[in-house]
Amino acid sequence: MSTTVSTPSTAPELSSAAGKLGYQTFTIGKFHFERDEYFAHIKFPGGQHLMPIDDFLRALMRDVGWGFFYGTVNFDAVIGTINHYGTVDLFAGQFNEAFRAAKRNYLETFEAKDLKRMFELMLDNWTNEGFDPYAAPDETGKAYGPKHGNNSKALKRERIVSPRMVGLPGDLPYRTDEAGQKVNRQFADVPQDKPEIHAEPGFEAEVHAFNMFGYVSRSDVTWNPSVVSNVQDSQFCATTEEYILPIFHGNDRVEWFIQVCDEITWDVEDGKTGKPRAKVVMKAGDVAAMPADIRHKGYSPKRSILIVWENNDGSLPKRYSSGELKPHPVYF
Ligand code: PHB
Ligand code: FE
Repeated sequence: MSTTVSTPSTAPELSSAAGKLGYQTFTIGKFHFERDEYFAHIKFPGGQHLMPIDDFLRALMRDVGWGFFYGTVNFDAVIGTINHYGTVDLFAGQFNEAFRAAKRNYLETFEAKDLKRMFELMLDNWTNEGFDPYAAPDETGKAYGPKHGNNSKALKRERIVSPRMVGLPGDLPYRTDEAGQKVNRQFADVPQDKPEIHAEPGFEAEVHAFNMFGYVSRSDVTWNPSVVSNVQDSQFCATTEEYILPIFHGNDRVEWFIQVCDEITWDVEDGKTGKPRAKVVMKAGDVAAMPADIRHKGYSPKRSILIVWENNDGSLPKRYSSGELKPHPVYF
């Protein structure tokens, strides 16, 4: 089923349990969201679901911060969003074989700005003081308990996008100690020197290089790719990873991973059914292409650096879903 609802109602009235704890409840279309001390509860026509509140807020933070990202953001095996770049589907059980077999899957379409607004309000109201959904679990306080304070400042961080390349005039600045961007505790061994640039006379303004390792080692967030260089539709999104990617990303195009240091294990599942397809263990220097028809979740035992290479061409989702392009970039 697909309905378009353009006005979110962020119901101010509180259900008794949520009300006593001080949390607001939220409704958009026929979806209803409540939180208690440990869980987010999601109700939809024909079913209900719950998620641990820290996992839910980490997933919600990514969906909000990335503007619904590319393709599908699965919060877990049941709840998620599909980005149609203007409108967004919010679903329960859409990519879950058991839900579909029982005809219990439910999907509604919203204007992206309406769902984003409602998600932002929910994220802000449900995040307690001291909990940072972008931080590694060992670098944040807890999400649990009755409502206490907020962390609005931490939730405002959007995905950083360099128009061309970090450090160019008018582009994103370098990260420095002076700006409070200290090297992360697990990256003390990452060199912070600058590359030497020897341009031919006359080409000084056209050659640029920066220490991307040093730049990324100063990131205070995890599982949050930021664009460090951008050449037409080719985006290098560098990110530091620790613990678990809070979403299962369902691709609507091929994306490439370059493991820069340490190690990440990826669970790869069929994008539609969730059936397991592969375990990919990526060590420093490994490169992998994630096909356009899968979903994946990463596990990083130690903070590691990953480059996600994205193709920002807006025509791709349709060309993959119509079958014009095959899901793998290479066939051997
Ligand atoms: C991905 O879904 O491809 C993804 C998302 C966030 C990351 C890394 C990879 O930090
Ligand atoms: Fe992905």
